[in-house]
Amino acid sequence: MRRARDFLSLDDVTIAELHGLLRDAAKYKRHRQRHGQRLAGRVVALIFQKPSVRTRVAFEVAVRRLGGSTIYLGDDDIRLGEREPVGDAARVLARYVDAVVLRTFAHRTVQEFASHADVPVINGLSDLSHPCQALADVFTIQEHFGRLKGLALAYIGDGNNVLHALMQACAMLGIHLSAATPASYRPEAKCWAATSRLAAAQGARLRWVSDPRQAARGADVLYTDVWVSMGNETERKARRRAFRGYQVNTQLLKLAARGCRVMHCLPAHRGEEITDEVLDGPQSLVLEQAENRLHVQKALLAMLLNGKATR
Ligand code: CP
Ligand code: NVA
Repeated sequence: MRRARDFLSLDDVTIAELHGLLRDAAKYKRHRQRHGQRLAGRVVALIFQKPSVRTRVAFEVAVRRLGGSTIYLGDDDIRLGEREPVGDAARVLARYVDAVVLRTFAHRTVQEFASHADVPVINGLSDLSHPCQALADVFTIQEHFGRLKGLALAYIGDGNNVLHALMQACAMLGIHLSAATPASYRPEAKCWAATSRLAAAQGARLRWVSDPRQAARGADVLYTDVWVSMGNETERKARRRAFRGYQVNTQLLKLAARGCRVMHCLPAHRGEEITDEVLDGPQSLVLEQAENRLHVQKALLAMLLNGKATR
């Protein structure tokens, strides 16, 4: 059986491949309309158990611009893991389509699906990781600053899927990252330990602090995400209480480096993790960041569907 190439987390690409993806994404962005038909005749299924604007639309548009087509399957369409085992659904779908983008809850569902599907599987967000977002994030940083290595990023807020993927990408590229989260919302311990080793090998600093001001001081990028992720809704009250003081606002931004840029994966809960003033202000990169999902996802699809498997 052919071993398909998956993208479940940043672990699935080498540092050289990550740089290659960023270069390809830049080409796709420069030549928006002239892509050739790299995915001609290919069909990509999008299985989404959670809502999405950016991930879904950027993948649908990316596939179409590259000459392929998509099938969107919402939670009610296939009821993944309910009507039949995840592995059975994966094996069947792999007989029909050329790749699958899966947005789900438990990360082990993406892993299980991928282990049974002999077509590329892309993690379109799980509770553990959001690797497509991280590709767009580091692409946006490179595009804005013209470099990556040695920059300092401060992540303020929840130690969640977005942070896990972002810290891995930063470590691979030599970006220093300070994460400020409440003690009970720190990033997942195994992921943190592995990323710390990766960062050290690339000469990048990875540190956790509880004080957002300590993280923000001198930062080139201030990054935040929602305090209540999809699936955490029942914890809303407790989380709002725990994260009070972790808002990215004008006061916090003043502590950062001159020329600091603000990033957020969106959707934002305005007035919670970030103020309108900062999100819509001159230092915000959020719309570039959202647009760049399209360009990096084109590069990713081209790599997974056309590239040589290296594993
Ligand atoms: N940033 C992001 O993944 O957005 P969506 O949830 O809208 O896809
Ligand atoms: N952490 C957020 C990211 C949304 C793109 C969530 O999982 O809901």
